[in-house]
Amino acid sequence: MMHASVEAVLNGLKVAVFMVDRDHQILFRNAASGQLFGVGLRGRKLDDFISSKKCLKAVDRVLAGKTQVSVDIKLQLVVPTSFSVTVVRMNPEAPLEDAKAIVSLEDVTHIREAEQMRSDFVANVSHELRSPLTALYGFIETLQGPAKDDANARERFLGLMETEAQRMARLIDDLLSLSKLQAAERVAPDDLVAIGPVLRRVIASLEPITEREKSTVLLELEESLPLVHGDLDELTQVFSNLIENAAKYGQAGTAIKVRAWVAENGLHVCVTDQGDGISPKHITRLTERFYRIDKGRSRSKGGTGLGLAIVKHILMRHRGTLEISSEPGVGSEFCVVLPVANLEELS
Ligand SMILES: Nc1ncnc2c1ncn2[C@@H]1O[C@H](COP(=O)(O)OP(=O)(O)OP(=O)(O)O)[C@@H](O)[C@H]1O
Ligand SMILES: [Mg+2]
Repeated sequence: MMHASVEAVLNGLKVAVFMVDRDHQILFRNAASGQLFGVGLRGRKLDDFISSKKCLKAVDRVLAGKTQVSVDIKLQLVVPTSFSVTVVRMNPEAPLEDAKAIVSLEDVTHIREAEQMRSDFVANVSHELRSPLTALYGFIETLQGPAKDDANARERFLGLMETEAQRMARLIDDLLSLSKLQAAERVAPDDLVAIGPVLRRVIASLEPITEREKSTVLLELEESLPLVHGDLDELTQVFSNLIENAAKYGQAGTAIKVRAWVAENGLHVCVTDQGDGISPKHITRLTERFYRIDKGRSRSKGGTGLGLAIVKHILMRHRGTLEISSEPGVGSEFCVVLPVANLEELS
């Protein structure tokens, strides 16, 4: 009933297309509709494939005389899938009893997910900035009022205000580095970096924190490690966050092991702590922005929850990987694998 070339065009579309009559009997469906909703003997009516009442109602409105109706629906296919559905009257000039409708369904799951992530992110950022700001307002009010002439209180409050201001500054720095990293993700860094000295420097610079947390860091470097292509500052940031986390979330008084060695698939650097460990349901989410297992604990240590998100993006840019393994009650291990620079290729 349809011209062969029209049928070929419809079959070439990624959008699922159904043509139905007044009883929702399918007169034509394109190839994409088969891929999305299955083919064959399951049924001949639209309702056998699409369970959404909202969508079927839109079809009825068009069959009752409307020229076009668009709706957004979510269907439970293999996974929950969001569709933007457009229903149009195929033959507006024909009498209503002969009305036919074209139903096209575009999979917009990725767009919806991205929209959701963006709005969650904005909500998170606002919330994270709002809490130090609220604290600052509180201190300002107290200093203007009850503690106006109290030199001791003034001293103490100014100290607390400085901590809150530092937290805001850190959050903004972290957000900026994340957005810079995301912009540069496609370009791999091409400086040559020696990991040994980076690790030594990071460990030295974290001494105030490891001392505060009463932990020691043991460095085990394999001899003559190869160079990696990388960005010195970014790799410093990676190991700094991993070792800092091990100190903050490890068990006070225990040792943190940092080992580096080379294997066939690249240069390995593993940071192992003897902390409480992390249960599997958290492990997969740790690199999400603002994800913290224990918000209060992380906040009391000055964390923003962006550290591992930054680590993930830096490693993506370096074509490296991060593997997290943990045994609750025993400790956690964060392993980075970086591709080794091929010096022969360079010369
Ligand atoms: N070694 C570890 N042991 C147990 N939990 C950890 C470990 N490393 C990270 N975590 C958990 O993962 C969360 C996210 O870590 P991440 O480094 O992204 O943020 P943060 O340390 O809280 O803040 P920031 O890195 O910005 O200071 C932490 O809040 C903590 O709950
Ligand atoms: Mg951290």
